[in-house]
Parts: sequence; C-alpha cells; structure tokens
Amino acid sequence: MTAVSGITPSGRLSLGNYLGALRRFAEDDGEPGFYFVADLHAMTTGHDPGQLGRLTRETALLLLASGMPEGSVFIQSAVPAHAQLAYLLECTAYIGELSRMVQYKQKGGRPMTRASLFTYPCLMAADILLYGATRVPVGGDQDQHVELARDLAVRFNATYGQTFIVPELARAQAAGRVGDLQTPTAKMNKSEPDQACGVLRMLDSPDVLRRKVMRAVTDSDGEVRHDGDTKPGVTNLLEILGACTGMEPVAAAAHYSSYGDLKKDTADAVVALLEPVQQRYRALADDPKRVDELLEAGRQRAAGFAAPRLARAMSAAGLMG
Ligand code: AMP
Ligand code: TRP
Repeated sequence: MTAVSGITPSGRLSLGNYLGALRRFAEDDGEPGFYFVADLHAMTTGHDPGQLGRLTRETALLLLASGMPEGSVFIQSAVPAHAQLAYLLECTAYIGELSRMVQYKQKGGRPMTRASLFTYPCLMAADILLYGATRVPVGGDQDQHVELARDLAVRFNATYGQTFIVPELARAQAAGRVGDLQTPTAKMNKSEPDQACGVLRMLDSPDVLRRKVMRAVTDSDGEVRHDGDTKPGVTNLLEILGACTGMEPVAAAAHYSSYGDLKKDTADAVVALLEPVQQRYRALADDPKRVDELLEAGRQRAAGFAAPRLARAMSAAGLMG
C-alpha cells in the first residue's frame, strides 16, 4: 500500500486541509507515503512568482509540522521526473477525455486559458503513477482525475507492456468535508481571498480563529441540532467540534442549549488542535537549515523511487534517452 498525495500551493492552508488531508496523511501507518507540494499545478492559472515561492515554502513547512513521516515530504518541481512522465502521459491521453474533466469545464475553456490547465490531469497522473501508488487520499473533487490516472495506466500498459501499477479509487467520505463558516453549504476553500472570514487558516492566531468561529453564520431558530439540510451552519460547527475532539457530532448537539456555548467550545477545540502544529511550524521556520535538510531527504527518496519507473516507461515507449 503506497499512498501519494499532493497539495497545490494556491492559498494559505485551511482547517479543511488539515482535517481532510494533512492529519490523515500523518495518521497513515505502514510504509511512509509520498506527500508533496504540487507547485507545478499552481501554474495552471495566472500566478505571481513571488507569491508561489512563499506559499510553496509555507505549505511544505505545514506538511512537516503536521507530523508526516520523515522523508515523505518534498516539493514537486524538485523531482523533474514528474514533468517528464507527464509528457509521456500527454502522449497517452486523448483530448476527448481531457475535455470531459469537470474542473477544466468549470475553470477553463476560454481562448486565454493556459494549455497546462487542460493537460493538468496528465501531470497529476504522473504524480501518482511514478510511485506505484495504490492509494491516493484526495477530496471528492479529484475523483475524476484519479480515475483518469487509472485509465492512462491501463492504456499505457496495454499499448507498451506492463509498466504502471493501477491505483485504487478510494472515494472520499462525504462527511469529511469542512464547510465555510460564512457559507456553510460550500467547502472551506483555501483559495478564497486571504481576508475571507469564513475560512479558518492553519496559521491564524488563536484570537483570529476565535473571532472567525464566533462570527460563524447560524440561523434564527436557536436550537442546537445536527441537521445539514435545514441547519447547515450549526451542523458545520458540530462537525468541526467533532473532528477536533473526537466527539460524535450528532451526540455533541445534546450538550448545548445555546449557539454561543457551541461556538465557544468549537473555537477552543480548533485552537487546541492547531496550537501544537503552529508551535512546530514556528520551530521549523526558525531553523531554515533543518527544513532544507528535511526537504532534501524527501526529494532524494522520491527521486530514487521515481527514476526506475520513468526509465521503464521511456524505454517501453521507444525513447532512447
Ligand atoms: P484543495 O485545498 O482543494 O487543493 O485540497 C487539498 C486537499 O485538502 C485535498 O485532499 C482535499 O480533500 C482537502 N480539503 C480541502 N478543503 C477541504 C475541506 N473544506 N474539508 C475537507 N478536506 C478538504
Ligand atoms: N490536484 C490536487 C488538488 O487540487 C493536488 C494534487 C496534485 C494531487 N497532484 C496530486 C493529489 C497527486 C493526489 C495525487 O487537490
């Protein structure tokens, strides 16, 4: 069971990223996976180079601070095999199937859309296939891309001979989604503007976290009840409280008779959960040499795994290089 997952540095990481991705990666037992900052993916839409560099470093530090196994964290662009295999997979994919990708249909399709947004699922397939991943923990919006990675692996193997392991499609659990505090029916999205007060950032100070939770949208009937259809705001707070403390969200509702108390406990739980991660983040930020060493160890391990698979794919396709 090899796990691979990437986080695109397209915004400051949110509590949703921590609960839905980073914490899960860190809890993975068994052999260490491959977890990377997908900086190449952040170039598929207009980007600012300085900002990309800063967010890449911050995201890498947060991966390390969240307790990933040693040697499992690296930066995608530091391992050129990703971009190299992506080209081979662009030569395997059809424009018909790439045109059907929901994310492309939503974000692209205009004359000035970057070509890389269209081919991006091939890069993501390369990220996965390079490491022989069997498990790809991602959110539901990425299922279609993982499915394409499967299709490309099967097609490449059938055309050129057995080269890639076909990854499993591990569907995300619906309940794993943290909602935005201001628009609880939408996911808490790191790519919202920095000042968006519905998004709890992993590096927000305790004061800011508390303020955002206390201002969360609820409703006017005043009853604390878990009911996603009619009470999305309160339900989202119960889910966050549950995810942070291990309490069962439906049962937790019975402990509260006012929204104020629920918000206060939820805020405390979020702060308590993130504080140790923030402390480790600060320790790493104060020791850039140590961070460089950790990322270099991750790069070396990833490059070592990726090289033989890339070589096999190139030679199977008839490339002599
Ligand atoms: P994204 O921020 O959409 O690029 O997603 C990066 C990773 O974080 C993916 O594995 C997502 O499933 C996870 N993630 C992002 N936002 C949330 C959220 N609001 N709730 C749960 N998981 C999330
Ligand atoms: N595209 C993913 C996202 O936006 C991030 C990602 C890039 C990824 N490469 C990956 C996830 C490989 C899993 C495996 O969330």
